[in-house]
This record gives sequence, structure tokens and C-alpha cells, in this order.
Amino acid sequence: MADEVTMDKIVSLCRRRGFVFPSSEIYGGLGSTFDYGHYGVLVKNNIRARWLEAMVQERDDIVLIDSAVILHPRVWEASGHVEGFTDPLVDCRTCKLRFRADKLEDSQCGRKPSKRPGEYSECDLTEPRQFNLMFETTVGPVAEAGARAFLRPETAQGIFINFKNVLQLARRRPPFGIAQVGKSFRNEITPGNFLFRVREFEQMEMEYFVPPAQADQWYRYWIDARFEWYVKYGLRRSRLRVREHGPEERSHYSQGTSDIEYDYPIGWSELEGVANRGDFDLTRHAEFSGTELEYVGPEGAERYVPYVIEPAVSIERIFVAMLVDAYDEEEVAGRGRTVLRLHPAIAPVKAAVLPLIARDSAMVEKARGLYEELRTAHAVEYDEGGAIGRRYRRQDEIGTPFAFTVDEQTLADDTVTIRDRDSLAQERLTIGQVAGRLGDELRKPWTTPKGESA
Ligand code: GAP
Repeated sequence: MADEVTMDKIVSLCRRRGFVFPSSEIYGGLGSTFDYGHYGVLVKNNIRARWLEAMVQERDDIVLIDSAVILHPRVWEASGHVEGFTDPLVDCRTCKLRFRADKLEDSQCGRKPSKRPGEYSECDLTEPRQFNLMFETTVGPVAEAGARAFLRPETAQGIFINFKNVLQLARRRPPFGIAQVGKSFRNEITPGNFLFRVREFEQMEMEYFVPPAQADQWYRYWIDARFEWYVKYGLRRSRLRVREHGPEERSHYSQGTSDIEYDYPIGWSELEGVANRGDFDLTRHAEFSGTELEYVGPEGAERYVPYVIEPAVSIERIFVAMLVDAYDEEEVAGRGRTVLRLHPAIAPVKAAVLPLIARDSAMVEKARGLYEELRTAHAVEYDEGGAIGRRYRRQDEIGTPFAFTVDEQTLADDTVTIRDRDSLAQERLTIGQVAGRLGDELRKPWTTPKGESA
């Protein structure tokens, strides 16, 4: 079943159920920009919260920062982005489309669809020219007189320029990390594949400062830790792999990079990158700013520029991977259903409360009472619209793991049914047990029912 999951199915579900909308739609849309609807926001919030739990809340050695989007322009000179954050761009004089010269195999000529535009006589490609991916803006009220600045293309630099603040105030000694979650912006030449490559995305990055001699050990540690985080939140191991970059593929700052790749409908592609950035960033910022950025031990006994290990990912790439991995279509009692088998901690809604007969005021009252109780602790939905089967399908499609149904028997003995999204098993429990049971279910370790154990 999973083999049939296409990006079109995911896009269609996201549109249909209000997870994600094409942005500026009433004005005809703006290519490759998206707005998130209610369920999409809830999923994003859950992904962010699980990342923060693992990276900050459950650890003693990582603290948070929230830096500005627009930084001093010298930051991007020091980081190498002004000079080197470029992609090679080619134009096709025939179809007038633009391609990345290093990704021609993935491109399509607009006039004559093909895998290799350059091989068709109709295609007439210009020589590649380097195109900087940073969005430029002007700081100050008058464009001509204002200072040229950039929207950050990564959150990492906001961390490096605060290294000294954190080191002093938090009295840190390597190894320690600084984490940041926030928007990044890249003027991608070929955005696409839904949320996979967009121009505005939310990055989650952590810079882990270590003694140089420990860099390789921590690099391996973070590759493993981040890989297992994906398995914990339901992605199948068989759909994940680690791919180490060759020296020619690495970014200018990197001494070693590994991608955690997911088998997206577009093929194996980068989900998250883990890099050993060496001392490149701190050394460059020290040089450009004139501020010493190093660790000095008690009484100056130790002094060094820490190396940095960086796990970096966007919520968008995780969002797509999790929806693709969770998506299923199946037949139940002769009727088709689409179900998102999301990890309960990622699912936008944790439980639905449903009165079997919406016209029955006693059932409605019981169901509303249960709903009011559960919503104090969890994202739950109350739904009395339409046949019960249809209501279950609606919840399956957005990945709600549990449904509690109030029926005739509830009125007699105060019990309700709990229905499991994946197994479809139902059992009865008393209304008084529901809150505790839901809490227990949501705390349990969970593995995908899609035929693979973690
Ligand atoms: N600080 C290092 C850095 O930014 P990167 O490999 O360019 O490295 C890190 O980006 C992560 O950010 C990627 O692994 C991916 O998850 C995400 N990302 C990068 N560009 C993206 C885009 N255009 N759309 C969505 N996510 C993107």
C-alpha cells in the first residue's frame, strides 16, 4: 500500500482536509508558497514540540535561543553566504524556463517534456551563472539610502553570533549546545515537490560545541540520535537511511556531512543534515567582528575554539515524510477508507467524541460533557454531523488515533466505546475511565502498524 503513496495524494488530502493550502490563492497563487490550515498547524506544533523535548527539555546540555531574522550584513560575509551560497543557474532560450545546472536530470523542459533538457534540439541552454539564494532587503525607510541586508537563509548564524552570550551567562563548558527554531528564507531556483523545497520554511537547528578532539565522536552520536528520533515518531526504518557526503559535495564549512534521507515519493532525498562544521564559523566571526570566540577554562588552563556538530532540518521536510509514511488506503467492510497512521504524539487531534444519535439530547449531553473534560488536557474534537461511519472516516483521514462513542448503552450504564484508528478494535469502558485511558494510550511507546517493528 505504501508503495502507491504519491505526492499528489498527499497534496490532495492536505487541501481537502485543510492541512495546507496554496498561498495567496484568491490572487492566483504564488508559486511554491503555502499556508497551513488548522490541522496543518497542529501537526507542525507537534513536530516542533517533540523536537524541543528531545533536544532541550530532556537534556542538561542544550539551551535555547531565538535570534533575529535580519542580522548585520557582515554576518553573511563572515559565514561565506555572500560569496558562496549560490546555485548554478541555466536558462533555456527556447522554453524560457530556468534550471539548476547541477540538477538537470531532475528537470523538465517546458516545451518538450524530457528528463534531460540539454539533450533535445529544442532546448537551448545558456552557460551556467552563479545565483545567490539569499533574499535581499533594505533596512531603513528609503530604499536607496537604506542598508542592504538579507533574510536569514539558515538559523545557525544567529546561534554562532550569540556563542559568547550563552557561554558567559549560562556558564557552559563544551560539550554543550544551543538550539533554535525559526523561519529561514531561500530564493530557490527550482522550488517544488509540495513542501519539500520551498522558499520560506521553518528550520530546527542545534549547534553542539565540542572539544576538537571529540568532534568525530559527537558527529556519529548526533547522526544516530536524530535517526532514532524519526523511528520513535513512527517512520519506518526501511524508509530511512544515512548517506555520507563525498568531499566534493560538502558545503564550504563542512569537515563531514551525513544526510538522513527518507524515501519520499520523489525518491531518496535529504530529510535532515548532520554536519561537522569544525571551527569554521566561530573562527570567521571572530575574524570579522574582532570579538574573541573561544572557550577558556578555569584560570585560563584550557583555551580553544570549539568544533561544532550541527543537526539541521525543516519542519516542512518532516511534515511531508510523516504524512507519506502514515498514509494508507484500505477497504473495510466493503467500503474504502483513507487513514493517516500518524504517531499519536504527532496526530493533530488525539481523540474524537461522538454521540451515536445527534437527535438524542441525552446522548449529546453526555458526549459534550466528556468532550469538555478531555479538552482541558488534549486536542480533541466533538462531532455530531452525519452517519457514525462517515464521522469515523473523517477522523481516520486526519489521523485521530481514538474515538469515544456515546450510545444507548451509555445512558443505561455510563459506559462508552473506545475505537482504535488502526486496528478498528472497539471495547467498552466507563466514562470515568476515559480521561485516564486516553492519557495512558498517548504516553505508550508506539510503532507503526504498517508491518514493521521499530
Ligand atoms: N545550517 C545548515 C543548513 O542550513 P542545509 O542542508 O542547507 O543546511 C538544513 O539545510 C535542512 O533544512 C535540510 O536538511 C532540510 O531539512 C531543510 N531545508 C533546506 N532547504 C529547504 C527548502 N528549500 N525547503 C524546505 N526545507 C529545506
